[in-house]
Amino acid sequence: MSFDLDNLFSVEGKVALVTGGGSGIGTMATEALVRAGCKVYIASRRLESCEAVAEECNAMGPGSVTALQADLSTEEGTKALAQDLASREDHLDILVNNSGMTWGAPFDEFPRSKWDEVMALNVSAVADLTKNLMPLLRKGGTADDPSRVVNLGSVVGTRPVSNQAYSYGASKAAIHHLTRMLANEFGAMHVTVNAIAPGPFPSRMMAHVIRDDARKKAMEARVPLHRVGEPEDIAGVLLMLCSRAGSYITGGIIPLDGGLSAMP
Ligand SMILES: NC(=O)c1ccc[n+]([C@@H]2O[C@H](COP(=O)([O-])OP(=O)(O)OC[C@H]3O[C@@H](n4cnc5c(N)ncnc54)[C@H](OP(=O)(O)O)[C@@H]3O)[C@@H](O)[C@H]2O)c1
Repeated sequence: MSFDLDNLFSVEGKVALVTGGGSGIGTMATEALVRAGCKVYIASRRLESCEAVAEECNAMGPGSVTALQADLSTEEGTKALAQDLASREDHLDILVNNSGMTWGAPFDEFPRSKWDEVMALNVSAVADLTKNLMPLLRKGGTADDPSRVVNLGSVVGTRPVSNQAYSYGASKAAIHHLTRMLANEFGAMHVTVNAIAPGPFPSRMMAHVIRDDARKKAMEARVPLHRVGEPEDIAGVLLMLCSRAGSYITGGIIPLDGGLSAMP
């Protein structure tokens, strides 16, 4: 018995879409896929952020990045992105549903509008985009090398530590559950569906904490591994999930949180 160890983690030549690739964790995912030889599309509202990341990653290679504009907060926006992609590619190997937003306020003042906005982007858009791209994903997948959907969940979807971000915590718990439901449904069609559940990573969403040294130190002290996440942490799990190494994993909620989700 033997297997191809050299290519176990290879994603070379795969076609990928990363939503929200123009910042934070989306940029970390994009860099990982490009450096591993993928043809990557990134999409969000701010085309200029996506173009800046595309320029930087294209200089690294060996893969490539194309920046697209998309507002995923509406059904029309998710449909338009799926159509745009279908006009460029005849199949899709990897979909990283990364775009997301948060909101915090005391529960008795928490605005209904921020339930609706957060749930629309963090849950409904993930479901819509996955549905609209399923024909392209199914074309790419085989029993040996299924297509991959990777959703960005969160430690706050596993443990109730989201601190006034009520709609965000509920949206991430919903994404974890949706991940398992879709994994059941699409396994037979050679598409795996997993979620990465990060703890704290530097990004626009976390800027208010990371920029304040005292708050950053306090946050790091709460993480069992005593640090925030780094690009290599995203790259390691993502490349595992998207390569031969991860082709027998579906319905997984992979903790990437320095141990936070294991705390008593
Ligand atoms: N950082 C953390 O500590 C952490 C922890 C756990 C989970 N996560 C999850 O990781 C994912 C990425 O977050 P991040 O931390 O990297 O934050 P971020 O830097 O704020 O990234 C959020 C991304 O979502 C995009 N986005 C926002 N609204 C959008 C819309 N209407 N349509 C399309 N794209 C939209 C943004 O791009 P535009 O503004 O250009 O649209 C941006 O690229 C999120 O799902 C988040 O919940 C983050």
